[in-house]
Amino acid sequence: MGILDAGWRAPYISAGAVIENIALAASHGGHAASVRCFPQGEDLSSPVATLTLKDSDLPEDSLYPFIESRVTNRKLYTHRPVPEKIVQALSQIGNIPGQTRFFPIRPGPIKRELAPLMGRADQIRFEEETAHREFFKAVRLEKEEMERTRDGLDVRALGLGPMGYPFFRLISKWNRLRFLNTLGLSHSMGLFAQLQVRGSPLLGLLVAEESSPSGYVAGGRVMQRLFLKIAQEGLAVQPMTALLVFIINLQINQAKNFSSRHRAQLTALKKELFQLFDLNDRHGLVMLFRLGYAAPPTCRSLRRPLSDFLIAAKDSS
Ligand SMILES: Cc1cc2nc3c(=O)[nH]c(=O)nc-3n(C[C@H](O)[C@H](O)[C@H](O)COP(=O)(O)O)c2cc1C
Repeated sequence: MGILDAGWRAPYISAGAVIENIALAASHGGHAASVRCFPQGEDLSSPVATLTLKDSDLPEDSLYPFIESRVTNRKLYTHRPVPEKIVQALSQIGNIPGQTRFFPIRPGPIKRELAPLMGRADQIRFEEETAHREFFKAVRLEKEEMERTRDGLDVRALGLGPMGYPFFRLISKWNRLRFLNTLGLSHSMGLFAQLQVRGSPLLGLLVAEESSPSGYVAGGRVMQRLFLKIAQEGLAVQPMTALLVFIINLQINQAKNFSSRHRAQLTALKKELFQLFDLNDRHGLVMLFRLGYAAPPTCRSLRRPLSDFLIAAKDSS
């Protein structure tokens, strides 16, 4: 288990998003999906959910068509504000009593306080060798590798334009990044994250009421609905989760893979984030993202065929 997946939080959130997509696709096919999460309990070897489909007269869910077009957009966004009607619609999706809570973060004091916390987390991401190793395991620098694996992060989708390839190639070796950090590279990356946040007209924070596997799966379902609604409204979105991921590391394994300097910084960041939103360790940190209006992304991550996953499911049974 890597530092980006601590507590299996990201896989559970992703499973929640898949469950939501299946339920939406069922509505397209004239079915209603009834979902039972962790029918055999919450341990790691048990299935996350069973879905039962029944015929239904209900119309197709209006979010279904946006499964195909939803995309992460890492460009800089314009200052055009997000209409309040859309903020309200997102809040309605994100606030499910007993399950999830959604905080829309408009320009103002909370956003001004949050931006440097997110920037510091992004800086840490570039200063920790383990985080670097895990990140570069996911980055696809070469087109052939991208097309062969059809997973991971295409360097062209990272929003640095023509600079992306040479830059990420340069820092793909830890020794080179460590040296460049002495010249201020990681600090600049933190400032860049702050620029992305400050320049975006809205941020969204989604938390689950429980930091349990069920909490994260429920959070993943809601996250997916939020992202699809954002796509439906023609808005751009980018998850920015370094802050949440590192705080979860602190909660689960005391950030033992981090340097003691970073551990102390993360302890302070956690305190500040929890104070800003009145959170505690029982809450599950699901998603932090920026949204706004932007030119379409230059490149979209490839999708793998459904059969890959069905075969995997058969093999593991
Ligand atoms: C739990 C989770 C955390 C993520 N964190 C980040 C992040 O910190 N920064 C970022 O740029 N993208 C982040 N992403 C976006 C993924 O990189 C992206 O969804 C994936 O590469 C597929 O691309 P697509 O969203 O365009 O389909 C995150 C996605 C998920 C589900």
